[in-house]
Amino acid sequence: MLLKVFLVLLLNLAEQNINHCSYLPHATPDFTNLSSLELVSSLKKLNLNGNFDFQNTRRVANDFGNRYHFLPMAVLLPKTVSDISITIKHVINMGHNPELTVTARGHGHSLQGQSQSHGGIVISMESLEESKLHVHTCEQPYFDVSGGELWINILHETLKQGLSPKSWTDYLYLTIGGTLSNAGISGQAFKYGPQINNVHRLEIVTGDILNCSATENADLFYGVLGGLGQFGIITRARISLEPAPRSVKWIRVRYLDFNLFTKDQEQLISSDNSFDYIEGFVIINRTGLINNWRSTFSPREPLQASQFSSEGKNLYCLEMAKYFNPEDGNIINKVELLDILSSFSDILSNRWSS
Ligand SMILES: Cc1cc2nc3c(=O)[nH]c(=O)nc-3n(C[C@H](O)[C@H](O)[C@H](O)COP(=O)(O)OP(=O)(O)OC[C@H]3O[C@@H](n4cnc5c(N)ncnc54)[C@H](O)[C@@H]3O)c2cc1C
Ligand SMILES: *[C@@H]1O[C@H](CO)[C@@H](O)[C@H](O)[C@H]1NC(C)=O
Ligand SMILES: *[C@@H]1O[C@H](CO)[C@@H](O)[C@H](O)[C@H]1NC(C)=O
Ligand SMILES: *[C@@H]1O[C@H](CO)[C@@H](O)[C@H](O)[C@H]1NC(C)=O
Repeated sequence: MLLKVFLVLLLNLAEQNINHCSYLPHATPDFTNLSSLELVSSLKKLNLNGNFDFQNTRRVANDFGNRYHFLPMAVLLPKTVSDISITIKHVINMGHNPELTVTARGHGHSLQGQSQSHGGIVISMESLEESKLHVHTCEQPYFDVSGGELWINILHETLKQGLSPKSWTDYLYLTIGGTLSNAGISGQAFKYGPQINNVHRLEIVTGDILNCSATENADLFYGVLGGLGQFGIITRARISLEPAPRSVKWIRVRYLDFNLFTKDQEQLISSDNSFDYIEGFVIINRTGLINNWRSTFSPREPLQASQFSSEGKNLYCLEMAKYFNPEDGNIINKVELLDILSSFSDILSNRWSS
């Protein structure tokens, strides 16, 4: 198995290749190379449920960063996990070819070409049709899901059963495979760890289709989690759930002093039974921006963003949420959690939501 993992590793040059071709608009692979033509025709002969797209490759030659544009030779639109397995086995069987990369692509929200493949094969994970999402409502609930599913859909589906994943990202239009290949970090990570800490098992394609967990193929399991797509393709994941809170108290407080801000944040994340969600932000004091819930930059002002310039001082914000169910009793007590914080300058917002 280690050998196979190593082969996939060789096929995946994503990270190392990035900088060589940076800023080339739609760099085109060399299709005059006979082995490329042979590869195309051999891919066409594979017996798949889904299909390869050799024409419309430009749409995967981009990502959220919009700075790297690598045209692949082909986009695999897999319908089944075996489509992915057949394709990777085929590439491995062609022998060692360091030019040829295979890259899984989730929602393409990485920034530096990680979900692209220069002259290689991009696997569009969102095309997978196999049993998308299954919620198990037992004593320790969990869900099984396709690696190409979006977290936003998981939120909607699990909420129907009164359940929710424990650890999130801020932004939910990202795929399971995409965030589990990184870490998946948000304001619950101090309590439950990042998303990769809440996975029971994975189905991985290294060529073969393998199940893995902390007790089965453990080296593959821990390699793939946070493995930047370099060790295998995540086709299924089993992830733990908890009862979803019915209501949330949401508070943001503002600080003028960086040391007080970090002191309070450290205090909060280390005290028992404080908030369920804690994040800290830098707020730039620019006209019209101070009451934004966090600072955002216009892509048209990259210089300003890089300089972090502020009219006067930078400000700091702690955003916190306390989950509760209305029947749990005195809600106001939960707000007194703010007593832990002694030094913030003012409360920016203080809201209930259900
Ligand atoms: C607006 C925005 C907000 C964000 N907010 C957060 C946040 O709050 N917290 C956080 O942690 N991150 C955040 N991110 C970063 C984001 O989690 C990562 O960029 C993530 O990889 C994007 O997921 P994706 O589905 O778009 O993956 P892609 O960009 O498609 O792929 C990312 C990497 O994962 C690999 N990959 C994708 N699918 C699979 C698979 N099934 N199997 C194996 N490898 C795979 C790819 O090959 C690539 O290397 C944010 C990004 C954006 C653009
Ligand atoms: C074709 O590609 C292979 C593998 O990248 C390379 O070794 C070879 O030199 C290329 N041939 C031509 C004619 O470019
Ligand atoms: C992986 O686990 C699933 C579900 O338990 C099972 O159906 C499948 O046969 C397993 N695959 C392998 C290769 O063991
Ligand atoms: C924020 O900017 C406003 C407008 O320029 C200024 O009046 C104010 O003093 C600044 N606040 C801080 C804390 O720097």
